[in-house]
Amino acid sequence: METDFLVVGSGIAGLSFALRVAELGRVVVVTKKERMDSSTNLAQGGIAAVLAEDDSGTEHERDTLESGAGLCDRDVVRMVVRDGPPRIADLIAAGVKFVTDEKTGKLDLGKEGGHSRRRVAHSYDLTGREIERALLAAVKEHPQISVLENHPAIDLIMDRKAKDRGRCVGAYVFEESGKVVSYLAKMTVLCTGGCGKVYLYTSNPDIATGDGIAMAFRAGAQVANMEFVQFHPTCLFHPRAKNFLISEAVRGEGAVLVDRYGKRFMDKYDSRGELATRDSVARAIDREMKASGLDCVYLDITSKSNEFLYKRFPTIYEKCRKFGITISRDPIPVVPAAHYMCGGVVVDMYGNSSVDGLMALGETANTGLHGANRLASNSLLEAVVYAEKAWRYCRDHKKEVLGRETPQVDDWSSGEAIDLEEEILINHNWDLIRRTMWNYVGIVRSDKRLKLAKERMSDILKEIEQHYRDYYVSANMIELRNISLVAMMIIEAALQRQESRGLHYTKDYPVVKQEFQRWNIFARRWGKQLWDMDCIKQKRI
Ligand code: SIN
Repeated sequence: METDFLVVGSGIAGLSFALRVAELGRVVVVTKKERMDSSTNLAQGGIAAVLAEDDSGTEHERDTLESGAGLCDRDVVRMVVRDGPPRIADLIAAGVKFVTDEKTGKLDLGKEGGHSRRRVAHSYDLTGREIERALLAAVKEHPQISVLENHPAIDLIMDRKAKDRGRCVGAYVFEESGKVVSYLAKMTVLCTGGCGKVYLYTSNPDIATGDGIAMAFRAGAQVANMEFVQFHPTCLFHPRAKNFLISEAVRGEGAVLVDRYGKRFMDKYDSRGELATRDSVARAIDREMKASGLDCVYLDITSKSNEFLYKRFPTIYEKCRKFGITISRDPIPVVPAAHYMCGGVVVDMYGNSSVDGLMALGETANTGLHGANRLASNSLLEAVVYAEKAWRYCRDHKKEVLGRETPQVDDWSSGEAIDLEEEILINHNWDLIRRTMWNYVGIVRSDKRLKLAKERMSDILKEIEQHYRDYYVSANMIELRNISLVAMMIIEAALQRQESRGLHYTKDYPVVKQEFQRWNIFARRWGKQLWDMDCIKQKRI
């Protein structure tokens, strides 16, 4: 299979890029499940940008930088904030229906933690689904774009003869027939989202297994800031409510966090109260839960009318009602859960990774926008801004990008592999990884627990790499291999940050240290085992 652009992933980043770059050549989007299976599709709150008259770029930049706790790249923040309003206009032109004020016709803007203004464009609490709907409809009509569902990518194909340890020339893709096929491309773009599934409790969909980050790392790309895992403070606590988020926009509309007696507690921890940044709110909830020994705290929005809540948060309202919670009357039981990876594949201002022929966009990338803690609703924004920048790069370097010769590559070989007869060999490790990460590498960390996690993860990785060689690949094995590698990156990055900053909090080094105002950049160390990781360079911020 040969194409000009190979896009891996069908969320907002992949589809936005595909729609633009299709003017330059043929685009194949491979996605490992169905096209709607993406984190974008679950995004509730919305997309932040300077859209109100009383707002300014300076304020959005300041809020982003404050949330990022000293690790944002200022140039990136300025660029993303500046490009926000035109990219929202593009989404509207592509058919996305954001909610507008009935009287003025202007966008109805929500507020979320860390924002000093109302600046979140939304489609009630279904913003991501509305964006996906519109982008997928546009992609479907496009003669230059093919979307292939149930096509997980396994690994990047590298032309190792090219300079600097090689150029990416596509990916090995697992087809529905069970065959692994080489998909060759002039440019490969990883848009596979994040890796929330590395934790036992997450707001992310099942597909969030860090595939892009793991593939890029194995290919030799630089990866940074993996210690900064964002835990969303408020996921619904109910045994049957898998992954369900209670949007931060609910707090933006006045919800308060209370303990089992109905007593507010956020003011004890942060003067910004419920609208403090996520790192602070998640940590406060964690402390309250540990102190009380209880399994959850409560989010109380009973100050608002039933009518208002039903209209503004229809999905949340209905979901809670299904579990016997009427949100206009009952406080909602909530817990923090893994939500967003702020780090990822290091990219430049156009989405280029450190590997030639390989880009990364959206949650897969580390652009420098989020630093040590992403500001709410800046993620969809980053994805659309960088999709446009990446297209611009390909357009301005069209000759070079499309003129690349496609080398002869070796077909996928299964070697001596045999059928895996006992699926338990895979499933047991899933459980082990996710529990280890939740218990040892969660919201509050310590050296002791991180070291234990590292020891266990090395053994698990070793075993999985062996399985990968011994048995025919399966979708389950591909994901497990990726998630275990990403888990190790998080552990190693956390161990190397001997301070507490943003989302990374460790009992052993509870304060911010000036000397750690830097990104620790990791890359594969050739000649060593994959899991034998180390920081290869630092970037001072
Ligand atoms: C939310 O609606 O709370 C999630 C939005 C985000 O992650 O930015």
